[in-house]
Amino acid sequence: MVNPTAWTDDNLMSLQSHVLAGERDHPEATGDFSWILSAISLATKTIGNKVRRARIDDVLGELAAENTHGERQQKLDVISNDIIKACLGSRANIGVLVSEEEEEPTILRTRADGGRYAVFFDPLDGSSNLNVSVGVGTIFAVIRLPEGGGGGLEAVLSRQATMVAAGYVLYGSSTVFMLTTGTGVDMFVLDHSIGSYVLAKRGIALPPSQPIYSINEAYSARFPEGVQRYLDWAHRSSYSSRYIGSMVADVHRTLIKGGIFIYPATTDRPEGKLRLLYEAMPMAMLVEQAGGIAVTQDGTRVLDLHPTDLHQRTSVVLGSTEEVAHFLKQMDSTS
Ligand code: AHG
Ligand code: MN
Ligand code: MN
Repeated sequence: MVNPTAWTDDNLMSLQSHVLAGERDHPEATGDFSWILSAISLATKTIGNKVRRARIDDVLGELAAENTHGERQQKLDVISNDIIKACLGSRANIGVLVSEEEEEPTILRTRADGGRYAVFFDPLDGSSNLNVSVGVGTIFAVIRLPEGGGGGLEAVLSRQATMVAAGYVLYGSSTVFMLTTGTGVDMFVLDHSIGSYVLAKRGIALPPSQPIYSINEAYSARFPEGVQRYLDWAHRSSYSSRYIGSMVADVHRTLIKGGIFIYPATTDRPEGKLRLLYEAMPMAMLVEQAGGIAVTQDGTRVLDLHPTDLHQRTSVVLGSTEEVAHFLKQMDSTS
C-alpha cells in the first residue's frame, strides 16, 4: 500500500512546498523564511521573463550611469534590481537589502520593528553577456540579523549575523534555481508551462575531482606567481578549460560537473574582482553544502571572512575538494 504522505522522487514538488515542508520539520519556524523565498521566487521569474524578452523589449544596452563599482550599468541590471526590491520590500520581516547596484543599503525597518533578516543580492550577474544571449543569473544570501541590535548597517556587518540560506537562479537554456538552507543543496527547474519551480534533484553532490579549470586565462601575466604555477601544472596534467564569464554559469557547471573556478587577485585588482557579500559568500555556502571547498587564493575559507564593507572584493577559489587542494599546493610551493 502506498503511503500518500511519503515523499518519493516521483512526487511533483514545487519550491514553495519544499520550503514549507522544511519549515514543518522545525516547529520553532515562524514562516518567515518561506515568505522571503516566495518573494525571491517571484522576483527571479519576473527577471527571467525580462531576460528572455531581451531582443523583443527595449531592455538591452548600457545606461549612462555607473554602479557603485564604477562599472557601466546595463538597463537590465537596473530593471532587475528594481524587481527584487519591489518583491522583497513588501516582506515585513526584512530589515535590510544590500544590492550590487546600490552604494548604500536599503534599510526597511529596524530589528525592533520586525526586520529579522537581511538579503544580499547581485540582481543580474554576468550582465555584460546579455547582448550575446549567454547565461546570466541572480545570486542571493539570506542573513539572520542579531537580536537586540539596531538592524542597520552595523547589524549586517556584525559577527553575529548568520547566513541561513543562499542560492542563485541561472537564466540559461533552462531556468535553474539552486538553493541551500544549510542542509545540502537542492535544484529546481522552472516549468514555464505551470509557472513554478519544481524540484529536479535533491542533495547535489559536487564530484571530488574533475580536470577542468575555469579562469580568465587572458589575465595570466597579471596573476600571482602561484596561480601561474598552478596553470602550468594544469597544462602539464592535461586539464580542460571552460570559462563563460558569468559567475553563476561557471559556478553552476562546477557544481554539477566538478572542477575548479578561480577568480584571483590581479596586479590591477589586488583585492580580486568578485564581491564578498553577494557573490563569493552565497556561492561558498552552496559549494560547501554540496561537499566542495570555497576559499580565497591564500586558502582562507570564504565563510570565515568578516566583511567590513558592503561592497568589498575578494579572490575566490571554489570547487571540487581535490582540485582546490591541487591549486593550494601550487600556491604554496616555492620551487
Ligand atoms: P556582474 O555582471 O554582476 O558585474 O558580474 C560579472 C562578474 C562575474 O559574473 C564573472 O565571473 C566575472 O565578472 C567575469 O569577469 P572577467 O570579465 O574579468 O573575466
Ligand atoms: Mn556579478
Ligand atoms: Mn551584477
